[in-house]
Amino acid sequence: MPTDVVTMDKIVALCKRRGFVFPSSEIYGGLASTYDYGHYGVLLKRNVKDAWWRAMLQERDDIVALDAAILMSPKVWEASGHLASFTDPLVDCRRCGQRFRADHLGELECPEKPSKHPGEGPNCDLTEARDFNLMFETTIGPVKESGAEIYLRPETAQGIFVDFPQVMQTARKKPPFGIAQIGKSFRNEITPGNFVFRTREFEQMEMEFFVPPPDAPRWFEHWLDARMSWYVDLGIRPDHLRLRPHEEDELSHYSSATSDVEYLFPIGWSELEGIANRGDFDLRAHARHSGKKLEYFDSATNERYVPHVIEPAAGADRATLAFMVDAYDEEDVEGETRTVLRLHPQLAPVKVAVLPLVRKDGLPELAREAYEALKPVVQAEYDEGGSIGRRYRRQDEIGTPWGVTVDHQTTEDRTVTLRDRDSLEQTRVAIDELPDEILRRLREPWRSPKLDA
Ligand code: GLY
Repeated sequence: MPTDVVTMDKIVALCKRRGFVFPSSEIYGGLASTYDYGHYGVLLKRNVKDAWWRAMLQERDDIVALDAAILMSPKVWEASGHLASFTDPLVDCRRCGQRFRADHLGELECPEKPSKHPGEGPNCDLTEARDFNLMFETTIGPVKESGAEIYLRPETAQGIFVDFPQVMQTARKKPPFGIAQIGKSFRNEITPGNFVFRTREFEQMEMEFFVPPPDAPRWFEHWLDARMSWYVDLGIRPDHLRLRPHEEDELSHYSSATSDVEYLFPIGWSELEGIANRGDFDLRAHARHSGKKLEYFDSATNERYVPHVIEPAAGADRATLAFMVDAYDEEDVEGETRTVLRLHPQLAPVKVAVLPLVRKDGLPELAREAYEALKPVVQAEYDEGGSIGRRYRRQDEIGTPWGVTVDHQTTEDRTVTLRDRDSLEQTRVAIDELPDEILRRLREPWRSPKLDA
């Protein structure tokens, strides 16, 4: 029976071994907490983002898409409050030269005496805490001159707020409606870590939902439910997922209520997504600073109002990591340990692998034919190198839900075996029916076998 055996080290090792995710600039010794996504990592994260777009755009008719620039006017960050308030308290140790988040000292190790927290070692000499702004600063243009400082965006949300009137007009929408965006954001975290969980460059999936002010509490509840269901529908075990309302002193400067969707990672319960009631904070702030009207005029009632905003803001890297962690499994098959990623088939990087049993007797030719038929329909892979057992182990580790084996019977009746990753059940299917059969299986509901473990 499958057991929950996952650790972060196993995930990091699998990611490196199979080329999902690995340290960036590794030939130069890497860059702290910075990672590159390889082939399967790109496919997996793209499927996560596609599932988010599908839930936000395709399955609804009240949300539109946006792709705003990463570089924005510095006035945006003045208005949004990020220049003044997007800070973490920081202390330096005069002894070892390291920096720590003043509010995380109890979770950190003293670099010189790891059994102690920073500040508690015999030689620690910490400075007073001071505020450290998390925005990355750079300059625009060829000359480094005063007034040319700009910032890498620390959230995609502000692009949505400043484009609100433009989008509302061209999309012909009125509240309640939303604007969704996926893109990179940057935060100069003092203590990044835990693999791709907290990195300084990361990808966000954010949606700002603009509503008439009295309806905001109802829409907040709606989005709490909708976002929890999204993770569960894509296979996350419900007992590894929870909603945690923020305490009053945790709320961001713009929020009147926030709940985090948290996942039970091997490092403990950690945030996947924040769902916030931002009220009219952002639209009013940008109206004040820009002098432009950021409001909705309802011609039916002759009323003018500033919509309130409900924001589900998810991390694409964190979600991808959570899906991997939740899918990771090891089981004993005939005395050998099989490592398998039990990903929802919709998320699996490769849907089907085509493997000739041996590299002779006309099997590779028939396998190529099956592969060519599948390729236009789904992400498929052809592999003829090494023993069939090794090839299946590789596909199990990247989470491929179905494997096609072309064997000697195929040369007689043009049928192949179709192997199911989770049940290991094998059925014979005609080559010509493979594309339809895979599409049929992809549409079927899927349930993680780990739920029954
Ligand atoms: N826009 C909210 C966040 O970036 O966390």
